[in-house]
Amino acid sequence: MFLETLNFLLLLVMQFLIFACSDSRVCPSHILDFQPGEAFVVRNIANMVPPYDLIKHSGAGAAIEYALLHLKVENIVVIGHSCCGGIKGLMSIPDDGTTASDFIEQWVKIGLPAKSKVKTDCSDLEYSDLCTQCEKEAVNVSLGNLLTYPFVREALVNKKLSLKGAHYDFVKGTFDLWNLDFGISPSLLS
Ligand SMILES: *[C@@H]1O[C@H](CO)[C@@H](O)[C@H](O)[C@H]1NC(C)=O
Ligand SMILES: [Zn+2]
Repeated sequence: MFLETLNFLLLLVMQFLIFACSDSRVCPSHILDFQPGEAFVVRNIANMVPPYDLIKHSGAGAAIEYALLHLKVENIVVIGHSCCGGIKGLMSIPDDGTTASDFIEQWVKIGLPAKSKVKTDCSDLEYSDLCTQCEKEAVNVSLGNLLTYPFVREALVNKKLSLKGAHYDFVKGTFDLWNLDFGISPSLLS
């Protein structure tokens, strides 16, 4: 299953922009066997893609802009993972939103819509399953945030780009890959 996914990825195109967690256990080149020249990689806590904002998080914006406009990548893959400490941090921010860290909680709050969704939709799950669900949902939030970048929308409309979500479970040894169903027509994207 792992190899099939890998072959599927590699058959599509050779140029990827990858968002992955900084966690040392989830190195994308190691997991997906990328060779030099194949993947432009952004790693940060909990593999978050922040929404378009010229002031905040400009490092992420610069990487997306460079990958699309200069490297002309044809695939963006956001890879979440099992036992993500960043997602656990997000899940444990109190409901009143108070934070104790200078940067970490502000950063993982990018995934707040995912936390709200899983707490509403999956309230019957126990904590660890809730975190797993949030790891996946946060990937979807990041894919949605990618749509806030004009050059991402333009490449999608011109069919030069695909966006994929993934979740790597290093305990079970699985790698799930999915397309985001945007539910909007290309005319609305432009
Ligand atoms: C993420 O989005 C995909 C495609 O729209 C959907 O099938 C999947 O259920 C979503 N994942 C979660 C955890 O909601
Ligand atoms: Zn992580």
